[in-house]
Amino acid sequence: MLAQTPPMGWNSWNTFGWKDLHADVVKETIDAFVSEGLKDVGYEYIVIDDTWQAFERVDGKLTWDSERFPNGIKPLADYAHNKGLKFGIYSCAGTYTCAGRPGSYGYEEVDAQTFAEWEVDFLKYDACYIPANLHNPTLYKRMGQALRVTGRPILYSICEWGKNQPWEWAAETGGHMWRTTGDIDDSWKSILEIGFHQQVGKHPYAGPGGWNDPDMLVIGMHGRGNVAAGGCTDAEYRSHFGLWCLLAAPLMIGCDVRNMSPLARELLLNRRLIAVNQDPLGRQGYRVGQVEYAWEMMDIWAKPLADGSIAVGLFNLGDNRTQKIPMAWEAIGLHDRRPCRVTNLWTGDDLGVHTRSFTSEVAPHDGLIVKITPER
Ligand code: GLA
Repeated sequence: MLAQTPPMGWNSWNTFGWKDLHADVVKETIDAFVSEGLKDVGYEYIVIDDTWQAFERVDGKLTWDSERFPNGIKPLADYAHNKGLKFGIYSCAGTYTCAGRPGSYGYEEVDAQTFAEWEVDFLKYDACYIPANLHNPTLYKRMGQALRVTGRPILYSICEWGKNQPWEWAAETGGHMWRTTGDIDDSWKSILEIGFHQQVGKHPYAGPGGWNDPDMLVIGMHGRGNVAAGGCTDAEYRSHFGLWCLLAAPLMIGCDVRNMSPLARELLLNRRLIAVNQDPLGRQGYRVGQVEYAWEMMDIWAKPLADGSIAVGLFNLGDNRTQKIPMAWEAIGLHDRRPCRVTNLWTGDDLGVHTRSFTSEVAPHDGLIVKITPER
């Protein structure tokens, strides 16, 4: 059974885009997954995005761009498998991919078979150049069916940008994760829009086997790479990672892991936060409420965990002032006299036993993630 917890890995798009994807980058990324300890904390799938393909099919089959991948795709999948990792690939439900390489429309079974022969473990399936009048749910079902026919367990990642409410039908197609939004870029504006605004109300649709996907992580990009858009501050990257963990979102790294910043390491390798994301209960966090002070918005998000504790995020979405954010026990289903221990999940610090509420100061754009554990 695939995707019993949110998938974790890396995808080439955010940093390497259409121009800079080639086999060396992928190989070195696989090496870095091991040497940087990313594999040890659970990151698993190495996914190559658009532009791995040659511009023409050969005998009706997809083949690789021989300049970028001189030895083909199978040796890279083997390389990942030999290091204990999994390998993913990209295709598109339309006639072309977004970059204008051949799409899988009309070739679903042939392409699924090709991917299975290469021992691919993950397919990201995009939605560019879909012929007029064809319905995304129909085309996604077709590829889902084709993947099942191969007999190989291939994690199916649906990327139609949330256009046709995929959270309502993507699981039926066999999807294990589905994009709920357009593309993320490396800016606070994008994190606010895609994360804090567009995920509200989506939590009932996620669970073991199928997850809402608010797109890949921009942590550690620092204004460089394909989706560069000015970059984010440390506080903004912290809020981004904290929210994605609370959302039980797939954690697909988008930065260049061969050269991670100290902040990227600190966030992406935080085992306490990853445990929240990977919690076996599989609940997606939801927005508990918002508090407004002096025209600045504070968000409170909560994710119930399997052991009876609750992970809570206190986010200051305002631009100007450090604010005190209060979190009342009633808001997350606790009786107000219930003593609970509060732990700072960024640092592991014990913040003491509290009743009724917990309040903390949070700097602009920052997010404090705590765990609230009822005392035994
Ligand atoms: C779309 C997707 C991106 C990426 C590109 C590749 O924009 O949403 O995530 O896969 O296509 O062309």
